[in-house]
Amino acid sequence: MKIAIVKERRAFERRVAASPDTVKQLKAQGFDVAVEAGAGAGAFFVDSAYEAAGATIAADEAAALDGADIVLKVQRPEPDELPLMKKGAVLVGLLAPLEHKDEVEAYARAGITAISMELVPRITRAQAMDVLSSQANLAGYKAALDAAAEFGRAMPMMMTAAGTIKAARVLVMGAGVAGLQAIATARRLGGVVFATDVRAAAKEQVESLGATFLTVDEEAMKSAETAGGYAREMGEDFQRRQRRMITDALKRIDIVICTALIPGRRAPVLLTEEMLGALAPGSVVADLAVEAGGNVEGSKPEETVTTPGGVKIIGYANAPAHIPVDASLLYARNLSAFLPLIVDQEKGLKIDTDDEIIKASLLTLDGAVVNPALAASPASAPAAAAG
Ligand code: NAI
Repeated sequence: MKIAIVKERRAFERRVAASPDTVKQLKAQGFDVAVEAGAGAGAFFVDSAYEAAGATIAADEAAALDGADIVLKVQRPEPDELPLMKKGAVLVGLLAPLEHKDEVEAYARAGITAISMELVPRITRAQAMDVLSSQANLAGYKAALDAAAEFGRAMPMMMTAAGTIKAARVLVMGAGVAGLQAIATARRLGGVVFATDVRAAAKEQVESLGATFLTVDEEAMKSAETAGGYAREMGEDFQRRQRRMITDALKRIDIVICTALIPGRRAPVLLTEEMLGALAPGSVVADLAVEAGGNVEGSKPEETVTTPGGVKIIGYANAPAHIPVDASLLYARNLSAFLPLIVDQEKGLKIDTDDEIIKASLLTLDGAVVNPALAASPASAPAAAAG
């Protein structure tokens, strides 16, 4: 069986879906692996390293995809890449199906079996395949580092002969996977960290990392978590109270890192333009939710904007791609862990639609869109999607 790894063509992408390490594993499992020349360049994996791991380097994308049974991708393919894939090929990637239903229909029309890694359920058996966690963790880390780098002051308290430097005060909004890593990183840098979330479970996790939890409404938080562990969209009243409390807290905050997402919906606006006015000039805000509509008014994808009040807002269109080496290494391992679910080395591809993981992540099969989550969701709105 042939696996193809191609160069990512979507804007702002630097990751790649296989590392020399995972190519070696795939070869050991009996696959032929073709890597398009230069596919790993954004993550500093050179062609010769893939070759040494056992891959064949294909001169261009068409050659890499020619006859491939499985195509491993980070982002969704561009429309002109689909005709290069053979009918019946399995495409695995971060396909953002809820935001791009029309593209899912195109996979079905092209006879491609598409699997979206974001939809793999977060059950114990699938932990090694959890791309949302592997990528969000690195995104949270990088956001804290970049915010510190943009900040014109030091992070830790320093006592020097010339006087004492105060520790930076950091607020993390949204304490899921990315937020918890942002908290841990800001703490390691020496910051004094505060955090808030709508889910009651987040409080203990925040406190276990040595940060102070800011509670908006304890009662409302009890019902803010869905059965799947995600946040619900909060009502107007909660949002008003959250904004009041945060505005007050911002007067003593230097750096804000926003990571709040609600699956399938636009990200909540946590910092309005008016609230940004409470921050002192030189403060830094990182908005990791910018792709899903943004937690911060005025944030722009892949830009750092400065407000009239002198606050810098960092917006990432694709946060994990800002740390492309480790993001690729972990993503590639997530895919390697997933592949045994769809391949029987003796019999070839096997798509077991009774398997809970396949059922949730399979988008198209035999020319039809088969995912129930797609049938239920409306056409498209910017919605939360990691990776
Ligand atoms: P996410 O990326 O969907 O959202 C990030 C955070 O934003 C969440 O903590 C959410 O509660 C918070 N948020 C949403 N609206 C907010 C608002 N208005 N104000 C403040 N915060 C807001 O979440 P992520 O990181 O994917 O984690 C979701 C859950 O999944 C967590 O409970 C996490 O512990 C759990 N999880 C479970 C795993 C497993 O069991 N294998 C693996 C990873 C995460």
